[in-house]
Amino acid sequence: SGSATYLKQILSYPLGASVNPRLLEENASYRALASSEFTSLTAENHMKMALIHPEANRFDFSKGDEILAFAKNNKSRVHGHTLVWHNQTATWMKEFQGDQQAWENLLKNHIQTIVKHYQGQIAGWDVVNEAFLDDGSLRPSLWANHIPDYLAKSFIWAHEADPKALLFYNDYGQDGKPKKMEAILNMVQDFKKRQIPIHGLGLQMHISIQSKNEEIKKVIEQSTATGLSIHLSEVDVAVNPKNNPDFVLDSIVQKAQSDKFQLLFTSFANIPASQQYGITFWNVGDKDSWLRGYFKRPKEYPLLFDEAYQRKGAYGELIEEIKRK
Ligand code: G3I
Repeated sequence: SGSATYLKQILSYPLGASVNPRLLEENASYRALASSEFTSLTAENHMKMALIHPEANRFDFSKGDEILAFAKNNKSRVHGHTLVWHNQTATWMKEFQGDQQAWENLLKNHIQTIVKHYQGQIAGWDVVNEAFLDDGSLRPSLWANHIPDYLAKSFIWAHEADPKALLFYNDYGQDGKPKKMEAILNMVQDFKKRQIPIHGLGLQMHISIQSKNEEIKKVIEQSTATGLSIHLSEVDVAVNPKNNPDFVLDSIVQKAQSDKFQLLFTSFANIPASQQYGITFWNVGDKDSWLRGYFKRPKEYPLLFDEAYQRKGAYGELIEEIKRK
């Protein structure tokens, strides 16, 4: 509230947001906030398979390049999201026919063409996104179904293409899903044993005011214990997860949300500095949240900036709490 200090100025690691190139072009308030408040940017959608590789022999880097140019102008880091995912695959991929070798060629070419295009300009990549189900089993997908050991292969191919890029495994809902967390930790152990390159873990942190603090702290600690870099990669704190149409954002809810933001930042502060890759919010202001668009929850207010792209009370409270610790 009226604080002149920017949150980014008191953090020793990048503060990020996922962005949408259309909003960067069309909306001046959004654009101003994206450049003034954040020091790391992630494409919300435009580096995903369906958008960046729309046809077998055609890549479309135009929107990703726009985000990169904006970030460069702003001296922001760019985080790459995401090379391999079960969701938002291209139609041609879904229709693809071929033996195992053909599928491997497809995925290797996808990964390496993109990583090489952005070589030296993207600090880290979410190489594989959301590969495990809540029960810890491997999620069925085009990749899991056609390529044995596709996780390890994806990391090896990405590393070949840009040996300097940090390679992340990114997933959601580790808190309260111990089997999923265990599967991720087992994967890291297995990679280390086999010398498969992996440098970081992304914990998306799509949480809500009802999420349990102990579970959140625990998964951050367990992830940190791997020694890898840690990215809270898609933060938002839902206040109306049941989509109650009569929901009112009152002071009790605001306080609960503020407390959750503080929990995430103070837990992150306990991570050794060398492992702090950063904290990234999933979208800029409440108005643009995927929870409104994708989940059709019009009365959802999950971010640090409100519908008018103004700082919420939680913003100043977060600064106070970080300074106090
Ligand atoms: O652009 C088309 C538009 O032309 C079409 O008319 C409309 C009709 O459905 O769809 C539009 O595309 C949508 C796209 O967002 C852009 O708004 C897709 O349907 C929609 O599926 C897509 O949703 C994205 C979602 O990933 C897909 O699963 C969200 O924006 C994006 O925020 C969300 O992000 C994911 C992360 O990548 C991974 N972790 C979870 C996170 C939240 O789901």
